[in-house]
Amino acid sequence: MGLPLFFMFFCFLFVCVSSLGVQLQIQDKYVVMENEMLQVTLSNPDGIVTGIRFHDIENLLEVGNDEFNRGYWDLVWSKAGSPGTKGTLDRIETTNFTVIEENEEKVELSFTRLWNSSLEGKQVPLNIDKRFIMLRGSSGFYTYAIFERLAEWPAFNIDNIRMAFKLNKDKFHYMAIADDRQRFMPLPDDRLRGRGQALAYPEAVLLVNPIEPEFKGEVDDKYQYSCKSEDIRVHGWISTDDPPVGFWQITPSIEFRSAGPLKQYLTSHVGPTTLALFHSVHYSGADLILRFPQGEPWKKVFGPIFIYINSLLDGDDPLLLWEDAKQQMMIEVESWPYDFLASEDFPSLDQRGSVSGRLLVQERYVSNGQYISANGAYVGLAAPGDAGSWQRECKGYQFWTRADEDGYFSISNVRTGNYSLYAWVPGFIGDYRYDFNITITERCDINIGDLVYEPPRHGPTLWEIGIPDRSAAEFYVPNPDPGYINKLYVNHSDRYRQYGLWERYAELYPEGDLIYTVNLDNYTKDWFFTHVTRKKDNKTYEGTTWQIKFELKNVNESAIYKLRLALATAHVSELQVRINDPSTKLALFSTGQIGKENTIARHGIYGLYWLFNVEVPGTLFFEGNNTIYLTQTLSISPFQGVMYDYIRLEAPPPCDSTKNSLFCIS
Ligand SMILES: *[C@@H]1O[C@H](CO)[C@@H](O)[C@H](O)[C@H]1NC(C)=O
Ligand SMILES: *[C@@H]1O[C@H](CO)[C@@H](O)[C@H](O)[C@H]1NC(C)=O
Ligand SMILES: *[C@@H]1O[C@H](CO)[C@@H](O)[C@H](O)[C@H]1NC(C)=O
Ligand SMILES: *[C@@H]1O[C@H](CO)[C@@H](O)[C@H](O)[C@H]1NC(C)=O
Ligand SMILES: *[C@@H]1O[C@H](CO)[C@@H](O)[C@H](O)[C@H]1NC(C)=O
Ligand SMILES: *[C@@H]1O[C@H](CO)[C@@H](O)[C@H](O)[C@H]1NC(C)=O
Ligand SMILES: *[C@@H]1O[C@H](CO)[C@@H](O)[C@H](O)[C@H]1NC(C)=O
Ligand SMILES: *[C@@H]1O[C@H](CO)[C@@H](O)[C@H](O)[C@H]1NC(C)=O
Ligand SMILES: *[C@@H]1O[C@H](CO)[C@@H](O)[C@H](O)[C@H]1NC(C)=O
Repeated sequence: MGLPLFFMFFCFLFVCVSSLGVQLQIQDKYVVMENEMLQVTLSNPDGIVTGIRFHDIENLLEVGNDEFNRGYWDLVWSKAGSPGTKGTLDRIETTNFTVIEENEEKVELSFTRLWNSSLEGKQVPLNIDKRFIMLRGSSGFYTYAIFERLAEWPAFNIDNIRMAFKLNKDKFHYMAIADDRQRFMPLPDDRLRGRGQALAYPEAVLLVNPIEPEFKGEVDDKYQYSCKSEDIRVHGWISTDDPPVGFWQITPSIEFRSAGPLKQYLTSHVGPTTLALFHSVHYSGADLILRFPQGEPWKKVFGPIFIYINSLLDGDDPLLLWEDAKQQMMIEVESWPYDFLASEDFPSLDQRGSVSGRLLVQERYVSNGQYISANGAYVGLAAPGDAGSWQRECKGYQFWTRADEDGYFSISNVRTGNYSLYAWVPGFIGDYRYDFNITITERCDINIGDLVYEPPRHGPTLWEIGIPDRSAAEFYVPNPDPGYINKLYVNHSDRYRQYGLWERYAELYPEGDLIYTVNLDNYTKDWFFTHVTRKKDNKTYEGTTWQIKFELKNVNESAIYKLRLALATAHVSELQVRINDPSTKLALFSTGQIGKENTIARHGIYGLYWLFNVEVPGTLFFEGNNTIYLTQTLSISPFQGVMYDYIRLEAPPPCDSTKNSLFCIS
């Protein structure tokens, strides 16, 4: 039963005429939702999308895959106390199907699975309700899911929650995740043995004999297409066959994603696969495992997201589909929060509230301590906690915005509940948290006025390296080994996404480790973006020690200096600080073992933010030349190490009698 061909001619310049409304057919093994634009088939009662028919394309999904492996919600879970982040994959095949709403304007379907104690140890202790919605005249469908556990249910962990689509591999060859991140992609078969050769870990494959020779010699790795949460609004694939067709996942709000706006997630990758990630431990590690102890109830709504399908006339430039998908994304964002969801667990606009205010920064040694507006600050609401706790917070919702150039911010569409207000300001170290909890009630409009963030500061800056912005992007990123490139990132602002850059360190510093001389060197050229281990022979690695050399004209031996070490990420690392004598057995400071973020292997430029404030007694410094030694000691793999965000040495506060004497307190 194909849609009549004339519908194709009804659709031009992305405008379509709707007439039929939404129709639902319930069969024994399948449920079919259909409107004027497309037809979606779900398995009954498992709630897996098995088919998407669009115009005369019978199925946009990969029919060579088993039906359970085409369009599905899944999660990875483990019993409490399990080590690591690798649990059991559960495709959430549900057991009960219900029609929630059915009329010409809208169909909403619910696929549920209830947990009870007979399933203990066999199934994740959650009740799950997967919803699918189709609207009249809409070229796509919505999906969301409600997860719930009762307090008395067993403890467990979740590593990953997502929705995945495996698209028709004969059609979808062009992938777009951003204006400057899109390309023709290799075929999935190119990754298989014989055509591809796995590199340092299975996800990275060198294409040695791809079906299309243009990809020969390139590296393919899904982590090269990771994105920060705030930027994952629309991504997907284009079929450049005539007529061109696009398949997009649109996420209008990131309120339900774990760990705030900077958390990085996978997007689309060779398959052709399109993912909507709601929770993952990538670029963060075990700190982000969702852990539920017995006694803790939980309920959360993931989504909705919109799966958008678009097309053009024969001969049109297929890349216009990306432009149209971005337009549609804006439409979805403006319609948020949606008003057509049946679940009471998804609050509508008038059940939400807002907060606004202004954030100022007060820095004793910048602008003479005058208030500065927190231009571009990230300001957000998340579960009550300590400053910075939002970057590990996964159980609740988070609501973030950016302050304008005068520091004014407004956070709207916030769910009711209790929150802390958090912020961080590009250009300044540290984390802000408002001292009081904020209670959001329905339709509240709270103005909290002017807030002042005082970043950590001890004395005037003696020198600094980098920009305090939680990323290592401003440092020296080498060119990749020409044998291991992804062409997309040649001459690209995200050059750090190339494979194998960790190996370049020892090539660039074959004899000794990095030495940086303040006032002589420039961190854009002379500070390698990641402090990695060094390969000793073919199998073993050793720690490395970087040196910062600088001159002090005079030293107050009875005062305390402060070294600010802001890290953009760490992976099974211990960073030690020594002053002027690299051989002291005991370091002045050690971070202890920190991080499991795996940012180096995943071609990232940041993971979690770490700020260490090291007190240096003046007695350790010389008048004249000094050296700070930074040693990363842990070294069993090439992927261990840290990335620095920013380093600053502060002098003791000046005890100038013409200034306020408070300035002398250290
Ligand atoms: C299926 O869901 C419907 C509606 O939520 C409910 O009335 C019914 O009891 C459920 N059946 C099972 C077996 O869970
Ligand atoms: C518990 O769940 C199993 C599997 O879904 C089901 O067969 C059984 O009837 C349920 N028991 C109760 C008491 O609901
Ligand atoms: C929020 O906090 C207030 C005051 O502490 C408390 O009375 C209220 O129950 C809390 N609300 C929620 C949803 O936790
Ligand atoms: C904020 O809320 C948290 C969690 O409900 C609570 O532990 C904390 O005491 C509250 N803080 C203040 C300042 O009320
Ligand atoms: C990269 O840029 C250089 C210099 O601008 C140019 O010569 C080279 O062809 C470019 N390479 C690619 C792959 O675009
Ligand atoms: C460091 O190098 C960059 C890029 O080459 C340049 O723009 C900048 O002005 C340099 N900084 C200093 C202090 O020389
Ligand atoms: C390292 O491996 C290369 C190539 O496999 C080999 O030629 C070389 O002898 C090895 N070196 C050591 C020190 O084992
Ligand atoms: C040196 O530091 C001590 C302790 O902060 C302070 O009391 C003293 O005035 C300082 N000396 C000078 C010359 O600044
Ligand atoms: C201090 O370091 C500078 C630059 O590295 C060097 O030129 C100078 O000779 C050094 N001074 C002494 C006393 O070692």
